[in-house]
Amino acid sequence: MILVTGGAGYIGSHTIVELIAAGHEVVCLDNFSNSNPESVRRIERITGRKLNFVEGDIRDGALLERLLREHAVDAVVHFAALKAVGESVEKPLLYYENNITGTLALLSAMQRVGVSRMVFSSSATVYGTPQALPLTEAHPIGAVNPYGQSKVMVEYILADVCKADPNFSAICLRYFNPIGAHESGLIGEAPTGIPNNLFPFITQVAVGKRAELAVFGNDWDTVDGTGVRDYIHVVDLARGHVKAIDYALKHTGMLAPNLGTGRGTSVLELIHAFERASGRKIAHRIAPRRPGDIGACWADPSMAERVLGWKAQLGIDAMCADGWRWQQMNPNGYEA
Ligand code: NAD
Ligand code: UFG
Repeated sequence: MILVTGGAGYIGSHTIVELIAAGHEVVCLDNFSNSNPESVRRIERITGRKLNFVEGDIRDGALLERLLREHAVDAVVHFAALKAVGESVEKPLLYYENNITGTLALLSAMQRVGVSRMVFSSSATVYGTPQALPLTEAHPIGAVNPYGQSKVMVEYILADVCKADPNFSAICLRYFNPIGAHESGLIGEAPTGIPNNLFPFITQVAVGKRAELAVFGNDWDTVDGTGVRDYIHVVDLARGHVKAIDYALKHTGMLAPNLGTGRGTSVLELIHAFERASGRKIAHRIAPRRPGDIGACWADPSMAERVLGWKAQLGIDAMCADGWRWQQMNPNGYEA
């Protein structure tokens, strides 16, 4: 039995679908602080079965302990966190409270019950400003905002837990930029308010919800001057978690592999790919650089292939086609 925290969210919902497809039993915990109960019903439509779902908070140690015991949980995939970089700068305590205190409560409950396997959502943001590309796992870590710091801190906490308990297994997956949606169009990314990230902004321009995209800078040292990222299809990312769980069930110790494609795509290249996939024009204008941004970032994904046997399969065109289908079928996300 796998406990998925934050499983009603964007990456968690896709991962539950892939875990169930791979034959795992799943129980999901989410407090809906950044998601909607409708995503749980959509997961059930895709998988054709009822999902074990518990509404609750990872900071509720007694609830966690009960849940781990009652469901005889073998391993935890831990997505639950707040993730808006800008908000984390304004409200650092909220982020440390949710992401750090929450993870400590979860780890303590796991320790009390004797559950010793965790797959954790880390991020390429732990690398800060890249000193060299592609980013390998040997690159020094150190983040530049409270959200990123919370990922770095949890990685250190998990490394210490692994040192103290030779039975413990922790896989910190350093995600690059997940975009796209399940091919059914039933689950996808549903940001509330104005999207912080490029891809949902593009899809909202395409569907007419936003007038135009501001491209944050065209004077970076990149192929066309716009920012370059390693976009990865969320379904590929979800499958990486299945491989990580399989690995964690058989090994002990700490591992922190990149999950990316190894390929960089610029903002303008992504706009053009999306225009091809959707047949819509994406109105855009060049705007100043976004504070705190980096110019380019992409992964060396070879550790995940070598150790976990995982490699991204889906390209930018599939990411755009699937993200567009989700946006068209659900113009207001999970809201009716
Ligand atoms: P998301 O906000 O869609 O999902 C997170 C889920 O966790 C939400 O459903 C939210 O309601 C839940 N949650 C938050 N705090 C909780 C708490 N205290 N108790 C119970 N549930 C709680 O985000 P996502 O994009 O699916 O990201 C999942 C994880 O991956 C996060 O840890 C995020 O930091 C990390 N990550 C995301 C990206 C990205 O670009 N989306 C990149 C790198 C890392
Ligand atoms: N961009 C625009 N216009 C927008 C939004 C973004 O031009 O309206 C550009 C950015 O400047 C950047 C690229 O599009 O060049 C991608 O930006 P995103 O915000 O989509 O992604 P980031 O890589 O900047 O940040 C994301 C997550 C962070 C996470 C980081 C590393 O938002 O939480 O990936 O994993 F820390």
